[in-house]
Parts: sequence; structure tokens; C-alpha cells
Amino acid sequence: MTSTSSAERNTRVRAIAEQRSHDRGALLPILHEVMAEFGHIDRVDLETIADVLNFSVADVLGVVSFYHDFRDRPASQRVQVCRGEACQAVGAERVWEELPSHLTRGDVSVEQVFCLGNCALGPSAMVNGRLIGQTDASGLAAEVAR
Ligand code: FES
Repeated sequence: MTSTSSAERNTRVRAIAEQRSHDRGALLPILHEVMAEFGHIDRVDLETIADVLNFSVADVLGVVSFYHDFRDRPASQRVQVCRGEACQAVGAERVWEELPSHLTRGDVSVEQVFCLGNCALGPSAMVNGRLIGQTDASGLAAEVAR
């Protein structure tokens, strides 16, 4: 993720949008690129992207709010749940499905990964870079709340 001033950010978001503006279905790739670079898509980003693509801000917001991968503010907590085969064999899918209902904070980014190199101690996950093995959804939620 990049740390920039709001003017620099706006310039960069506009460049991303303009670079892809003539592609079919440009909106999703633009949103993914902004997410990858800045970690979230804020209101000004929506306006900039809408302006470049000649969409309404509501159109862009509708897409952003439909997909849970897109965030409208920075995540202060990051959880990566392993969904690799070894972890799946010991309950990772249940962890993945149940985790959102256990989280009490709104600033948590939950992502899937496919092997954290901790297969023997699955289900495995990372919370803010800390590897956790033999976990479940409530255990992970407790780690996030610490
Ligand atoms: S498959 Fe989950 S740590 Fe390897």
C-alpha cells in the first residue's frame, strides 16, 4: 500500500482509471488496482473514477458496495485465512464461513490465502502477520480483538 497526499492519490487514481478507461468492463480492474495500491477506495476515488468513466458516482458506489473485497476505509486489522487443501481437510472452510459473524470490529480485512506453510497445524491463519495454527473462527476473532 502506498502512503501519499490526497492530491497525489487523486492524480494516481485518475491515471489508473484513464489507463483502463477504454477497456471493456474497465470498472472492476480499476477498483482492484486502486485497492491494491491504497488498501481502500474512498469517496474522492469514487468521484474520480466515475468522472473518468463517465459513470455516476452512484453507479461506482453500487459496484464497490456489492463486492465485499472493496473497502471504503483503511483496514487496521488484517486476517488471512488459509484455504489450502491441508487446512481444508481439518476445517478451514468452516473457519472461513464463520469468521465474519464472530468479528465485532468493522475495520478488519479478511482475506483468503492458499497455504501459509503451517499445514501440519491447520486450520491456519495470520492475524496482522502473526501465524496462528489449529484455530477456529472464535479463536481468530479473539486474536483480532486483542
Ligand atoms: S494448507 Fe494451510 S498452511 Fe498449508
